[in-house]
Amino acid sequence: MAVMKPDLIPRETPHSHPGHILAASAHRDPYPYYASLVAGPALVFDAPRKLWIASSAASVKAVLANPACHVRPPAEPVPNALVGSAAGEVFGHLVRMNEGVRHDAPKLALRRFLAGVDLGRVQTRTEALAAMQAEKAGQGPLRGAALSRWAFEVPVMAVADMLGFAEDELPQVARWMADFVACLSPVSTPAQLAASAGAASALLARFAELVRDANANPGSALARLQHEAAQVGWHDANALLANAVGLLSQTYEATAGLIGNGIVALAMQPALLQAMGREPGQLLQMVNEVSRFDPSIHNTRRFVAEATQAAGVSLQAGDVALLVLAAAGRDPLCNARPDEFLLDRVDRDVPGFGHGAHQCPGQALACEIAAAAIRALLVSGRLQAVSSFSWHYRPSMNARIPVFVD
Ligand code: HEM
Repeated sequence: MAVMKPDLIPRETPHSHPGHILAASAHRDPYPYYASLVAGPALVFDAPRKLWIASSAASVKAVLANPACHVRPPAEPVPNALVGSAAGEVFGHLVRMNEGVRHDAPKLALRRFLAGVDLGRVQTRTEALAAMQAEKAGQGPLRGAALSRWAFEVPVMAVADMLGFAEDELPQVARWMADFVACLSPVSTPAQLAASAGAASALLARFAELVRDANANPGSALARLQHEAAQVGWHDANALLANAVGLLSQTYEATAGLIGNGIVALAMQPALLQAMGREPGQLLQMVNEVSRFDPSIHNTRRFVAEATQAAGVSLQAGDVALLVLAAAGRDPLCNARPDEFLLDRVDRDVPGFGHGAHQCPGQALACEIAAAAIRALLVSGRLQAVSSFSWHYRPSMNARIPVFVD
């Protein structure tokens, strides 16, 4: 998650627009501002921030589908602050951060691997882990800081469990991941960078052991991942380990945000809370709509590698585009009646999981985990007081993650 420097956070009043695009994801209600962007030109240049902003579904998708628009600046494939560290080693291999040969076959293997995950088992395990973590946090309604911590721990533990970590290792994996993702911010401190490198080393070493064990257990998830890798001709063992770490890091904040925004939906919509209380089996439907209506990843960036045209505008090498995925999901040309929360929406289009070559392969898994986690709290009565919860949003330039307050 890219964190905002405190002096960049504009003052917010309840009905104000965010001061600028990078303040929108952490704003109480950025959606009227997004609607005004969607109604404007396909691409607008934000001079102070030196960004082209795309917000309509068509312009966001046009940039994401343009092969001249890359996920990293060509001159800095790995952030300079990470080069030479274990965190940089992981970053440099991630399919999320590469194009071409370092992306295509590994992505195909990851996509096939994730498509083969037994979601029924993930649901059962997530509910059990969610209940266990909630119990550890005490009795009565789960709220405030304990709820926020729970929302971060459960998804990464669920994915680590799926990948073959033992149950008693899962809390440690969650701690490593908290340390690891801190390096992804442009304002990380030297101490955070050091902790992140330590976590990356520990995770790589543990995954190396798990992969060795998986060879003796052909039914395991990591054996299946290796099989998919071999099938597509992806033979780089270090890259495979790094991308296994990547599955945890891609899960971590985004899915915590999805769970948090799901709880916010229940807090803000009494009829929805009642409906989910009656039919918790519908929580997957609810989470699918949350991921469109109030997604956890609000924007992503592309770096123009060579002169090109996108959405009718000429872009030059070195230009940077900000694709406002959350605005695109509310574009009336993408989803009819976009500002209504509709459980049974037909043909829901969810740009919040990306589009084109880098589209998220974890969408179904993330939604299943978020629904199962929320279900565990709801059916145990621990969300009873949800209508009285308070929250603000983590300072972030791209993610929307509620911070529940006591
Ligand atoms: C609510 C949770 C999640 C959200 C909102 C989300 C969103 C996204 C988005 C927007 C992208 C594309 C970024 C871009 O093109 O710039 C992406 C990529 C990716 N996601 Fe997710 N994601 C979530 C959960 C997951 C999970 C659970 C996994 C796997 C365990 C996962 C694995 C990946 C991978 C591997 C990529 C890189 C794909 C590529 O570059 O080709 N994500 N995600």
